[in-house]
Amino acid sequence: MKKVFVKSYGCQMNVYDAERMADVLAAEGYSETAAMEEADLVILNTCHIREKAAEKVYSELGRVRSLKEERAGHGQETRVVVAGCVAQAEGREILRRAPVVDVVVGPQSYHHLPELLRKAQTERVVDTEFPVEDKFDHLPQPSRQKTLSRGVSAFLTIQEGCDKFCTFCVVPYTRGAEVSRPVARILDEAARLADAGVRELTLIGQNVNAYHGEGPDGRVWSLGRLLRRLAEVPGIARLRYTTSHPRDMDDELVAAHGDLAALMPYLHLPVQSGSDRILDAMNRKHTGDEYRRLIERIRRARPDIALSSDFIVGFPGETDADFEETMRLVAEVGFASSFSFKYSPRPGTPAAELEAQIPEPVKAERLARLQNLLETQRQAFNRGTVGQTLDVLVEKPGRHPGQLAGKSPYLQAVHFESDAHRIGDIVTVRIARAGSNSLFGERVGPKDRAAA
Ligand code: SAH
Ligand code: SF4
Ligand code: F3S
Repeated sequence: MKKVFVKSYGCQMNVYDAERMADVLAAEGYSETAAMEEADLVILNTCHIREKAAEKVYSELGRVRSLKEERAGHGQETRVVVAGCVAQAEGREILRRAPVVDVVVGPQSYHHLPELLRKAQTERVVDTEFPVEDKFDHLPQPSRQKTLSRGVSAFLTIQEGCDKFCTFCVVPYTRGAEVSRPVARILDEAARLADAGVRELTLIGQNVNAYHGEGPDGRVWSLGRLLRRLAEVPGIARLRYTTSHPRDMDDELVAAHGDLAALMPYLHLPVQSGSDRILDAMNRKHTGDEYRRLIERIRRARPDIALSSDFIVGFPGETDADFEETMRLVAEVGFASSFSFKYSPRPGTPAAELEAQIPEPVKAERLARLQNLLETQRQAFNRGTVGQTLDVLVEKPGRHPGQLAGKSPYLQAVHFESDAHRIGDIVTVRIARAGSNSLFGERVGPKDRAAA
């Protein structure tokens, strides 16, 4: 049997796409391997969001080249595919820079992989079209066993692309315009995942709360409505969604946080900056105060909700005063967890053309201060759950025998001792201690068993 190795960079969308590519290739007789050196086919599923992410591809391709040469010495052939957002953004340029690459395929075309690999026997090929057909209609379904081997918590793409055009961001160019999958297709996929033993669904999309798919009633359904329906799927105990834009948090979605027990009290809602001037230059189309008021509304619906965000420091023109506004917003809102980045100018985006680029040392200093504050908040949030009794979805064995590891409703990793539970169970655990990256607790009782 031929073997395929897939390495993914970037966001959850890429994790999901990597699984779908493996499914497409499974139907072609490829089994997945975690060891690149034994792969007949190497796929790098790339990310273009920041310069560092994009450059990683080329250093990795250097490694792939030595591997390919070594395997060739043993008479083994290795094919190399670059997929994902760098593939979309750079296309043919990748073939020029990296002679080792056989196929370049964008995120909307990977269902063409079998055909592209056949073509690649005679020529190097590039497919970065946004095809009119929907790739989801052309993807084979993995077996129950394969699905379960990927874990009891699964991603499900419901929306792709972005129409927001934040001035720093490549996503609208690499992933194209916003498209929502029809409700019926999402329900089918959710039922299939649940049937294989999946307990938690994370609905994903570049701009997931802009979801506006066609419902079975012929009307447009919002994310709030879709979540209500998904909460009824037998076997699915937990729902999450990511990533959201503050402008698309409508009343129905906020209300769902209050009404749906299955919708977990954790929300990733990137704000990027606390300065109105910078938010405007970023084309985010909301102010810091609008974000604060939105958070108040969400907290009224679900008082214990844990929040997380993305931040960019050193956006062109960001002054010390602008940066202090970001620090003030963070201090006021309080985040359970966050991602923060130095602004990275991306080719083809409007902000990259601005003159007032911020010097690297200033970015570095601001990032360090922000990360310090965010880390303090993260640890305080985790310590705040000590003494509480939380439901933990068991995902895998712990670090030593007799220990299990899972996630709290607030997406914290929790370890506890138990020989009476299985992966997929939801167990009530009293949190005893907060470590630096996970919580440790004692089981209080079973809550909800996984289906046999
Ligand atoms: N759709 C999501 C984010 C997608 S990209 C949203 O709207 O929030 C993930 C994160 O990468 C962004 O939230 C942003 O913080 C960061 N990012 C995007 N472009 C960037 C750039 N050019 N430089 C630095 N960080 C960037
Ligand atoms: Fe990028 Fe903005 Fe779209 Fe998010 S909303 S993907 S940051 S353009
Ligand atoms: Fe990166 Fe593309 Fe995701 S640029 S963050 S992999 S949408």
